Amino acid sequence: MNKKSKTGSLLRYLKPYWFWAVLSPLTMIGEVLADLLQPKFMESLVNDGVLKGDQQFLLHTGLQMLLIVLLGGLSGASCSIFASLASQNFACDLRKDVFKSAMNLSFQQTDRFTTGSLITRMTNDITQMQNFVEQCIRMFVRSGMMFVGGIVMMLSLNHRFGLILLCSLPIQLIAMTLVLKKANPLYGMVQQRLDTVNNVMQENVNGARMVKAYVQEERETRRFTDANTALTDANLKVAFIIARLSPILSIVMNFSVVGILYLGGLQTLAGAMEVGTIMAAIDYNTRILHSVMMVSMMFQSIARGQASGKRLNEVLSTHPAVEDGTYAPEKLGEITFDRVSFHYPGFARPVLKNLSLTIRPGESLAVLGATGSGKSSLIHLIPRFYDVCEGELRIGGSSVREFDLTTLRNKIAVVLQKSELFSGSVAENIRWGKPDATDAEVRRAAEIAQAAEFIEKMPDGYDTVIAEKGASLSGGQKQRLSIARAVIRKPELLILDDSTSALDLATEGKLRQAIRREMAGTTLITVAQRIASVLDCDRIAVLEDGALAAIGSHDELMKTSPVYQEIYQSQTKEGEASHG
Ligand SMILES: Nc1ncnc2c1ncn2[C@@H]1O[C@H](COP(=O)(O)OP(=O)(O)OP(=O)(O)O)[C@@H](O)[C@H]1O
Ligand SMILES: [Mg+2]
Repeated sequence: MNKKSKTGSLLRYLKPYWFWAVLSPLTMIGEVLADLLQPKFMESLVNDGVLKGDQQFLLHTGLQMLLIVLLGGLSGASCSIFASLASQNFACDLRKDVFKSAMNLSFQQTDRFTTGSLITRMTNDITQMQNFVEQCIRMFVRSGMMFVGGIVMMLSLNHRFGLILLCSLPIQLIAMTLVLKKANPLYGMVQQRLDTVNNVMQENVNGARMVKAYVQEERETRRFTDANTALTDANLKVAFIIARLSPILSIVMNFSVVGILYLGGLQTLAGAMEVGTIMAAIDYNTRILHSVMMVSMMFQSIARGQASGKRLNEVLSTHPAVEDGTYAPEKLGEITFDRVSFHYPGFARPVLKNLSLTIRPGESLAVLGATGSGKSSLIHLIPRFYDVCEGELRIGGSSVREFDLTTLRNKIAVVLQKSELFSGSVAENIRWGKPDATDAEVRRAAEIAQAAEFIEKMPDGYDTVIAEKGASLSGGQKQRLSIARAVIRKPELLILDDSTSALDLATEGKLRQAIRREMAGTTLITVAQRIASVLDCDRIAVLEDGALAAIGSHDELMKTSPVYQEIYQSQTKEGEASHG
C-alpha cells in the first residue's frame, strides 16, 4: 500500500500536463470505435455484399469502412502524440527534480547511493516511469474499451458466443495473474543489477588510465562480465516467466476460434446464421483476448514503474544530512573547535578525538600530521561537508549548524586534496570560483597561484581547452589551477588541503609569498606533509591519530614538542639522505 502510494505520488509531475494526459485517451476512443466497427462492416460486406452478389453495396460499404479506418488511424496518431507530450514532459520535470535532489545530497549520502546507482536512477528508472505513464494513458482506455466493447459487439452478433468467452476468459485471466505475480517482484532486482553494471562501468571509464597502468584489463573485464551476466540472468528470468504467458494465450485463442466455428457452423447449418457473422465473431474474439494481453503488458509496466518509482522516491525523499540554518553574518570571525570528536557515519573508528583548537581571523595556520591522522577530516568540518559528532564547532561565536550554508560556503574557499577540474577552457575553470569575474581578475588569480606562466605558454593561453578532469595537465598544473579557482573568490578563509604537494619548493615558496602579499587579512589554513612548506605559518598544529599533539610557532614547537622535533628530524634527515 505504502509502496503504491509512493509511486503514485510521482504522478504529481503529470499535473501540469493533465491536458495532454486527458486528451490522449479521449482521442483513443475514436481509434477503438473504428476498430470495433470493422468486424461489423465485414459481416455486412460478406453477408449482404459477397453472398448476395451486390456490387453496389460492396463499393458503398467498402468506402464507408475505409473512411472509418482512416479516421481511426488519425485519432490513433493524435493519441500517441498527446501521450508522448504528457509522458516526455513528465519525465523531463521528474529528471530535473531527481537531479536537484542528487546534487543536494551530502558527501556521505552520495557514497551510500553510489554514483552508478544515481546515474541509473536518473536515466533508466526515469525511462521506466515514462513508459509506465505513457502505457497507462494509452493502454488503459484502449484495452478497457476494447474488452467491454468487444464483448458487447460479439454478444450482439449472437448471444451463444458468450459461452465461448465464458470458457476462454477465466483461463486467460488466471494464467495472466499467476505469471505476473511471479514476474513483478523481480523488476526491483533487475534495476539493482543494472546499478552494479553502471557502477563497474563508471569506475572503469573514470579509472581507465589506472586500469591500463596496472594491466588490470582482464580482471576488470571479468568484473564487468560478472555484473553484466548477473543483469542478463535477471532479465532472462523475467523473460522466461513472461514467455509462459504467450503459448497459453494463443492456445486459448485457437481453441476459442474452433469453438466459434463449431457453434457458428451448427447455427449456419440450421439456417440461423451466415458466414459473415462467424468471421466477425472470430475477429471480435481475437480483439477481446488481445485486449487482455494488453492489460498484462500494462501490468508489467506498472510493476516496472513501481520498482523504479520507489528508487526515485528514495532519492527525492532523502533530506540533505546537513540541514541549512539561517544565520548569515557579514564576517565569519574566529573558528573554534570545542572538544570536537568525529567519526564517519557508519564507521565506528573515531577520526578526531576531543580536539580543541581556535583559529584567529587573519592568521595562517598549518595543520601537520602523518597520513590518516585526520587532517582532511578536520578541515571538512568547517564548511560543513560533515557535522561534528561530539563537542561543538563555532564560527564567530555561533555554532556552525546555525549558519546559512550558502553564506558560509561562499566565504570559504577550499582547495580539496584531490583537484577536480571540469572540461572547458582554463579561464572557465578559474572563473568557476567566481562566475562574474573579469578577465583581469582571472589573470590576477592565476598570477597569485603561480599558474600564469604555464597558462601563457599554452597554445591558446587562457582559452586553451583542457580535457575532462584536467587530464591534459600535469599534477602541479592542476593543483595551481585549483588554487587560482579558490583565490579568485577572495574568500575570508582559504583552506589548502595538501594542495601544493606536487610543486617544487621554490614555486611553492613563491605561491605562499604571493598569497600572503595579495590576500592579507584572509585566514589561511594549510594542510601539509612537509614541514618546509609551512615554516612561515603563524602557528603549526600537529595532529596525531586524530588528537591535537602540539600547537605553536615553529620555534616554540622546536623547543617544547618532542613529536614536532621528531617529524622535523625525520624530514631533514630524509632530505640529507636524498641529497647525499
Ligand atoms: N569518507 C570516509 N569514510 C570513512 N572513513 C574515512 C573517510 N575519509 C577518511 N576516512 C578515514 O578517516 C581517517 C582520517 O582520514 P583523513 O583523510 O582525514 O586523513 P589525512 O590526515 O587527511 O591523511 P592524508 O595526509 O593521507 O590526506 C582515515 O583513517 C580514513 O581511513
Ligand atoms: Mg588528507
